[in-house]
This record gives sequence, C-alpha cells and structure tokens, in this order.
Amino acid sequence: GFCASDMGLGESSGPTALYGMVFDAGSSHTSLFVYQWDSDKENDTGVVSQTLSCDVQGQGISSYANNPPEAGNSLRVCLDKALQVIPVEKQRDVPAYLGATAGMRLLRYSQPPPQVLAEVAKTMQEYPVAFKGAQILTGEEEGAYGWITINYLLDSFTKVGEGWNTHSFATNIFGALDLGGASTQITFMPESSVLRQNEASELTLYGYSYKIYAHSYLCYGQDEMLKRLAKELIVESSPSTRVHHPCYPKGYKETMSLSSFRASPCTDGSDPRLPLGDSTITLEGSGTASACLAALRRLFNSSACGQGQDCALDGGYQPPLRGQFIAFSAFYYNFKFLNLTEGQPLAVVREAIEGLCTRSWKDNPKRLPKYCANANYILTLLLDAYKFNETSWNNICFQMKAGGADVGWTLGYMLNLTNMVPAEAPARVKGLRSSLWAAAITFIILNLVLGLAALLLQLWV
Ligand SMILES: *[C@@H]1O[C@H](CO)[C@@H](O)[C@H](O)[C@H]1NC(C)=O
Ligand SMILES: *[C@@H]1O[C@H](CO)[C@@H](O)[C@H](O)[C@H]1NC(C)=O
Ligand SMILES: *[C@@H]1O[C@H](CO)[C@@H](O)[C@H](O)[C@H]1NC(C)=O
Ligand SMILES: *[C@@H]1O[C@H](CO)[C@@H](O)[C@H](O)[C@H]1NC(C)=O
Ligand SMILES: *[C@@H]1O[C@H](CO)[C@@H](O)[C@H](O)[C@H]1NC(C)=O
Repeated sequence: GFCASDMGLGESSGPTALYGMVFDAGSSHTSLFVYQWDSDKENDTGVVSQTLSCDVQGQGISSYANNPPEAGNSLRVCLDKALQVIPVEKQRDVPAYLGATAGMRLLRYSQPPPQVLAEVAKTMQEYPVAFKGAQILTGEEEGAYGWITINYLLDSFTKVGEGWNTHSFATNIFGALDLGGASTQITFMPESSVLRQNEASELTLYGYSYKIYAHSYLCYGQDEMLKRLAKELIVESSPSTRVHHPCYPKGYKETMSLSSFRASPCTDGSDPRLPLGDSTITLEGSGTASACLAALRRLFNSSACGQGQDCALDGGYQPPLRGQFIAFSAFYYNFKFLNLTEGQPLAVVREAIEGLCTRSWKDNPKRLPKYCANANYILTLLLDAYKFNETSWNNICFQMKAGGADVGWTLGYMLNLTNMVPAEAPARVKGLRSSLWAAAITFIILNLVLGLAALLLQLWV
C-alpha cells in the first residue's frame, strides 16, 4: 500500500528543547498531548515530537454540564504527569491549550450555557505553565488542523517545492478523514477550479498557498450516529418496547430509556414520532450485516442531493475527491479491529465486516457488541457520504501515528497558535540544503580523483 511509513523523529531534550501541551477535549473522552522540539529548528517541518500522551479518566468534559468543577478536576492526573516530563526550569514557558470539539459544540444549544470551559481554564491556571486558553473549535478548524498535522508530520509541505505542478502536487499532499464520537471531518485539496469560494479555506504555509476544502458534520460522529439509529429503530417498531437491532450481535441486549434521546440535540427529543413517556426499551441484536447497512443508509438523507453531483451529506457541497487520504481516530480504531493486513481491497473488507456481525459477542464482550455497527457505519460514511469507490478506496490509509506522534488536530492547532508553521519559505529549505551538500561532495570527490590521477601520472612518468 501507499501508507506512509512511520519515520520516528529524533527527540531533542537538550538545553534548546521547547515544550507545548494541548488537551483534546472530545465528546467521549479527553486526552493530553505534550510536544517537544528544538528551538533552533522551530521553522522547519516535521521537527516536533510527542513526549507524552495521557488519557483523562472518565467521560468527555461535556458530560460534566451539571457539575462543571469536576470537569476541571478530571484533568489533574494528566497535568501532574505532564509536569513530570517537562524540566522544572522550562515549565513556566510551556504554552498550554485546551481545545474542545463536537461534544461542546452540541452543548451550545443548552440553556443556561454550562460553565465547563471556565472551570477547565481555572484548573489549568493553577499549574505552573503558560495557559493560553480553552476554547471550542469550529468543525472546519478541527478539519484544517488535522490536515496540517498530517502533512507536517509526513513532511509534505517541503516536498511541494521539489516538483511544483498540478499533478505531483496532489500526490504529495494528503487529505484527512477524522471520525469522533459526535462529528466527522473531511479535509483535502481539490482541483482549484472546482472549489467554490465559500467552501474554501486558504492557508499559506512555507511559501506556498493551499486552497483546501474542510467540512465537518455534526451528529455524524459514531456515538451520536448509534443513538440516532436506535431512535429510528424504536420509532419504526413503536409502540413495541422490544426492538430488533440488526447491527448488534445475536443474543446481545441493551436497554435504553426514551428520555436519553432528549439529552442530545442530534436525536431531537421533541420529534413527534418518538413514543411519549419515559418507558424503557430493549434493543435485541439480530446481527445481520446487510440489514445493518440498510438501516444506517436510511439515516443519510439521500434525497437532499437530488440528481446533483458533487453533493455530500444532507445536500452539502463536496468537490470530487483527490489524492491520498489518511483516516485516523475512530476510522482507524474500527478498521484496526478487523485485523486485516494493510492495503486490502474493498471486497475483502466488506467480507471481514460481515463476519464480524455474526461472531458471538461473548468472544469479546467489551468490544464486539458495538463493532458490527461501527464498522458498517465507517463503510457507509466513506462510500455513500464521502463518495469513495472500489478504486479510490485504495487511496485511504488507516493510520493512527506518523513520525512518532498521534495523528489528530492537536499538533496542527498548537503549530498554528505558536506561529510554528510560517507563511514564508524557511531560509534553509531541507531539499535545497541536501542538494547543495550533494553538489559539494561530488565536487570534492571529483577533485580528489583528478588529483590522484595526476599523482599517478607523475609517478608513471
Ligand atoms: C523563525 O521565523 C521567524 C519569522 O520568520 C523568525 O523571527 C525566527 O527568528 C525564526 N527562527 C529560527 C530559529 O530560525
Ligand atoms: C432531506 O432533505 C430534504 C431537502 O433538503 C429536506 O426537505 C428533508 O426534510 C430532509 N429529510 C430529513 C429526514 O432530514
Ligand atoms: C471512482 O471515483 C473517482 C473519483 O474519485 C473516479 O475518477 C472514478 O472514475 C471512479 N471509479 C469508478 C469505478 O466508479
Ligand atoms: C483482533 O485482534 C484482537 C487482539 O488479538 C482481538 O482482541 C480481536 O477480537 C480481533 N478482532 C477480530 C474481529 O477478530
Ligand atoms: C492559523 O493562524 C492564523 C493567524 O496566525 C490564521 O489566520 C489562520 O487562519 C490559522 N489557520 C487555521 C487553519 O485556522
């Protein structure tokens, strides 16, 4: 496959090392990443390495809407761990950020607005680091920062200059596919002629300008999608309180209360089709991949596109796919669970997913129950919504790490906010540097050979 190899990066822990930290506050959980780089190289690409990743115990910060101080407290264990890996004399200079994504975007609809962000900021300010803010990213920012992370780690930005033309350009720059609990993002560089102005973000990095398409779909993350699916199945079998679920394995049961649908704007608790009251519904698995796929497809509003080409989810605009893509976060975890070797064609993947749906969930009670649904969902999302086909499927690489760092939006976010992805081309571009070296060495060797030849010739005479 084309999957980029994971070239580990050199750590710099000497006196010139700088550090930064970013909390990724997702809808289902929070993680902290500590990054490290050499101050001499801050304007190069691919020089930042990941020193620590720490998973915060418990749910995402949006789940603390009713008890905001606990959201702040939940971060402490990871903050303490971070301070253990950063030299004491450097801690005061460490820029520290918290970025929240779709879980918090959904909370914007609640009244009164919860104080969760204020509380996490308060906690971070108690630590001896340079706190720079806790904010909610827009979906488009989340997509763009993921795209920056990937291309920075894979060193694409400096390869661009080596053969600038429309064709080689697309093959050097990777697109980004991200799937979280509450939203999903697609970001890539389409042919510029097809990119509509209001859908384009223009970024200038290392002397080149990139027009990218970045789109985020709220409520299409895998957890919200599962809730929406359950709601549709319940509505379809109303007023029965026992409901067949084609995406859960045979024999697996899950109970849900109708009130749980009222908790998320994604499942629209005021939907008149939803049975009234607060009864408990039992979902009973029937484990049929084909019925599962069909039920998931019904959640996409295919009529919204009409006959329109270049149309994505819910009638949104999406230019034709272009180039290779890195699929990370939940795309990666679900795909990884199939235990396939890299670069399998779509038919093999489909078969593996069908097999997953008929397995006994007791083989792996922690994970198997949800993986038939999740795996079919990523298939539906990639094929029906994002419009990958049998051929372009081979342009997707499912990858979690690159250059020793986790792939996600956090690194791109930090690089941007600390001005480490400059607009200008760096004075010393790596490619140029190496070709100058090569020329110099060739010159020296040639001279040595000539000198030796002259010497031999003199001895001969
Ligand atoms: C990085 O770029 C900025 C702005 O162009 C410049 O001020 C700074 O000195 C550069 N740093 C290094 C280490 O080259
Ligand atoms: C699907 O999209 C059409 C056209 O945009 C809209 O009228 C309709 O309400 C949508 N249906 C659903 C279920 O969202
Ligand atoms: C697959 O999609 C690409 C565009 O992404 C298109 O050029 C190609 O013709 C499609 N192939 C098939 C078999 O439909
Ligand atoms: C893949 O391998 C892991 C670890 O060996 C195992 O837990 C999991 O059940 C496997 N997945 C499938 C679909 O068999
Ligand atoms: C990065 O930061 C600059 C300001 O320094 C901003 O103009 C730009 O839009 C940011 N990039 C992204 C992807 O948001």
